[in-house]
Amino acid sequence: MAEFRLPANSRINGKGTTHKASDGAKNVKSFKVYRYDPDSGQNPRYDTFEIDLDDCGPMVLDALIKMKSEQDPSLTFRRSCREGICGSCSMNINGKNGLACTTAIEDCKGDVRITPLPHMDVIKDLVPDFTHFYAQYNSIQPWLKTVSPPPSGKERLQSPKEREKLDGLYECILCACCSTSCPSYWWNSDKFLGPAILLQAYRWLADSRDEYTGERLDELEDPFRLYRCHTIMNCANVCPKGLSPAKAIAETKKMMAERQL
Ligand code: SF4
Ligand code: SF4
Ligand code: FES
Repeated sequence: MAEFRLPANSRINGKGTTHKASDGAKNVKSFKVYRYDPDSGQNPRYDTFEIDLDDCGPMVLDALIKMKSEQDPSLTFRRSCREGICGSCSMNINGKNGLACTTAIEDCKGDVRITPLPHMDVIKDLVPDFTHFYAQYNSIQPWLKTVSPPPSGKERLQSPKEREKLDGLYECILCACCSTSCPSYWWNSDKFLGPAILLQAYRWLADSRDEYTGERLDELEDPFRLYRCHTIMNCANVCPKGLSPAKAIAETKKMMAERQL
């Protein structure tokens, strides 16, 4: 794993607030949470939230919800499904990117340090700006593209074997944990598509129904978009869905090489 880096606009000044646990709490754990409000004109800081684990759900997201509802309603983070499906609650927890809703507090050693995904601009607190990430996603045209009408007049069928090729790809929830842990993406995110988007690009290359394989490969044939991956493997190490963007990237490079034979 490469070293964890603070978000690009981080200047931690150490003057955070400590929110104490309720009186009588016996099983207290401290969470140091990155706070940044661009409207305040102040530098980012860490606030400390003491949480009574005897009165809190088991996941890091439960602790964040408790902080927001009982200690500081201005604490800002994304979440929706609370079961690892929507990808909204991706953040950096004790130096590793992951989903707050599927990360158990008991697996976090010592004080739990929570920051936004690294190397992304921060909108507020734990909310990073996904505008560029989504624009890159849009650029790969993530939908089925065809020229011929459906053979049956209705559906485009796949054999079970063809469908199997999408396993390990379709499960991606676009949380960006992988891309924001990839050193190549940190330094070249303006041009390199990064592991998440490249996995999504391969998802359409691997789909037997898609008829734009050549055009899709043409779009990726560029010194930066695809070839900035140096197989460092951070992406596969952090993916909360157990996927391997590095493998999808390798398969794409193989397709690229094969069509040149
Ligand atoms: S394997 Fe490639 S995409 Fe994955 S972290 Fe490494 S450089 Fe980034
Ligand atoms: S490949 Fe994994 S880590 Fe990357 S965006 Fe998809 S689900 Fe998240
Ligand atoms: S809240 Fe949906 S993935 Fe965590």
